[in-house]
Amino acid sequence: MKANTLKILGFCLAPVAVLTLTACGGAETPDAQTTPINSAPAATKTAATQTAAAVAVDPMARGAKLYKRCQSCHSLEQGGRHKVGPNLWAIYGAVPGSKEGFKYSAAMSSMDIVWNDETLSGYLENPRKYLPGGKMAFAGLRKAEDRDAILAYIKAQTTPAP
Ligand code: HEC
Repeated sequence: MKANTLKILGFCLAPVAVLTLTACGGAETPDAQTTPINSAPAATKTAATQTAAAVAVDPMARGAKLYKRCQSCHSLEQGGRHKVGPNLWAIYGAVPGSKEGFKYSAAMSSMDIVWNDETLSGYLENPRKYLPGGKMAFAGLRKAEDRDAILAYIKAQTTPAP
């Protein structure tokens, strides 16, 4: 800033013509004012872009972020309480509708599959289409990369240590 001002001053003072001096004086004021005003939002934008970039490259971070859409209804930790939906501890390898103490829909209780990447991805893509008569009120994650990220996160959080 200081160096800039000196430069402008030097540039302005060099020509002898009074007209030039006036023109430079006029130009300097808006310049000095706009610099700090512009730099603040620019810095904020950079920080936001960096966070978004980190989430995009790190599926775990992305999965954790996406999981916020589930957490009002589900807990992940061992012994976590059932909410509107069942606790999801050890969901991988489980038969749908098998968590004790949760009242599932008849549709989910009678599903004859095992939860794995493929079946969970199918369910989360469009719960109502995958399981007509199911009672999970969630619209679904249409993007495959969103499902991959959230499942990587859920798997890491809910799989018991060997
Ligand atoms: C509005 C509440 C709600 C939201 C939001 C929700 N769920 Fe559910 N979820 C439920 C309910 C209720 C059930 C039981 C469905 C049934 O019985 O038909 C369920 C069932 C499940 C099951 C099967 C559990 C089992 O024991 O077989 C999985 C897996 C699941 N949800 C994952 C998710 C994930 C992942 C998200 C976020 C992307 C999510 N849910 C969002 C309410 C919700």
